[in-house]
Amino acid sequence: MVDITAKLGRLKLDNPTVLASGILGVTKASLKYVASNGAGAVTMKSVTVEPRAGHHAPIILTYEGGMLNSVGYSNQGIKEAKKEFISLKDVGAPVIASITAGSKKDFAFLAEQVNEMGFAAVEAVISCPHTPGFGTMAGQGTPDSTREITAAVRDKTKLPLFVKLSPSVQGIGEVAKAAEDAGADAITAINTGGPGMIIDVKTGKPILGGTVGGLSGDALRPIAVRCVYDIYKSVRIPIIGTGGVMTGEHAAQMILAGASAVGIGTAVYYRGADVFRKVCDELQGVMKEAGYKNIYGMRGMAHEE
Ligand SMILES: Cc1cc2nc3c(=O)[nH]c(=O)nc-3n(C[C@H](O)[C@H](O)[C@H](O)COP(=O)(O)O)c2cc1C
Repeated sequence: MVDITAKLGRLKLDNPTVLASGILGVTKASLKYVASNGAGAVTMKSVTVEPRAGHHAPIILTYEGGMLNSVGYSNQGIKEAKKEFISLKDVGAPVIASITAGSKKDFAFLAEQVNEMGFAAVEAVISCPHTPGFGTMAGQGTPDSTREITAAVRDKTKLPLFVKLSPSVQGIGEVAKAAEDAGADAITAINTGGPGMIIDVKTGKPILGGTVGGLSGDALRPIAVRCVYDIYKSVRIPIIGTGGVMTGEHAAQMILAGASAVGIGTAVYYRGADVFRKVCDELQGVMKEAGYKNIYGMRGMAHEE
C-alpha cells in the first residue's frame, strides 16, 4: 500500500493535494465542497485590506495551451472575510489564509487580522503578474522586497507562513532563500506566469478586461516544475509545487522535482472539483509502479545522480 500523507512543516495533510488560491475559495462553503472532494488542504481566495471589484469582464479565457485570467483580486476585503471564514474546523481539511497587499505595512495588518480566525497557515502572495499595485507590477519579486514583506508578516503571526512566488523573476532560488531567511515556513511555487495577451482579430483588440492576464494550466507546468527544482536546491523548507498540475503524473513530477505538496487550480475547470481525488488515485498508481512507498522517499529524487 502506498502512503500519500504529506507534511508542510508542522502541518499534516491526509494527501499532498492543495486547492490553489483563487479557485472556489471565495466562501467557506466552497472550501468545504473542495475538501469533501478529497483535497488535502484548501486555500481561500486572496484577501486585501479593502474590498476590490477587480478587472472588468471578460476575466478568464481558455486557449489551446491553458488559461489566461485577469481577475485582478476581486474580493470582499478583510472586514467581510472575517465574517465569512469562521468555525473553520468543520471545513474538513486544513484551511490556508491567503493575503495580499501593495505594501509591507498592509501585509502586516492582514497577518494580524487572520491570526485568530482558525486558519492552519497563512500564505503571503507577492507574485500576481497582472494587477497594478500588487505582486510583480509593484516590484515585489526581488529578493530584497521578498525579505522585507516576509519579515513584516512573520513579525505579526505565529501561524505557519507560506510565501507564494512568481516564475517571472531572475533566479527564483535566490528569492526563495530570501523568504526562508526572513522566516517563511514553506514556499508556494508558482503563481500564474506571464502576463500574456490574446487579441480578437475581428475587433483587433486584446480580449481580457485587464488587457493582460496570468497564464496557468498546461503551458505553465514545465516552468513550474523547473522552478520547484531550482528552489529545492536553494532552501530547506517545504515547497508546494503549483502550476499546471492536471493529473497524478504531473503531481509526481512536482514531488520528484522537490515538492512536499502539490497545488491544483486550473485543473478544477477541466476535470471538476473531484480532480483532487482523481489526482490522488493516479498518483498512487504512478508511485506503485515506480516503487515509491511514500511522498518523503520520492521527494526531490530528480536531483539524485
Ligand atoms: C482564475 C484564477 C484566479 C486566481 N486567483 C489567485 C489569487 O487570488 N491569489 C493567488 O495567490 N493566486 C491566484 N491564482 C493563481 C493560482 O493560485 C495558481 O498559482 C496558478 O493558477 C497556477 O496553478 P494552476 O495552473 O494549477 O492553476 C489564480 C488563478 C486563476 C486561474
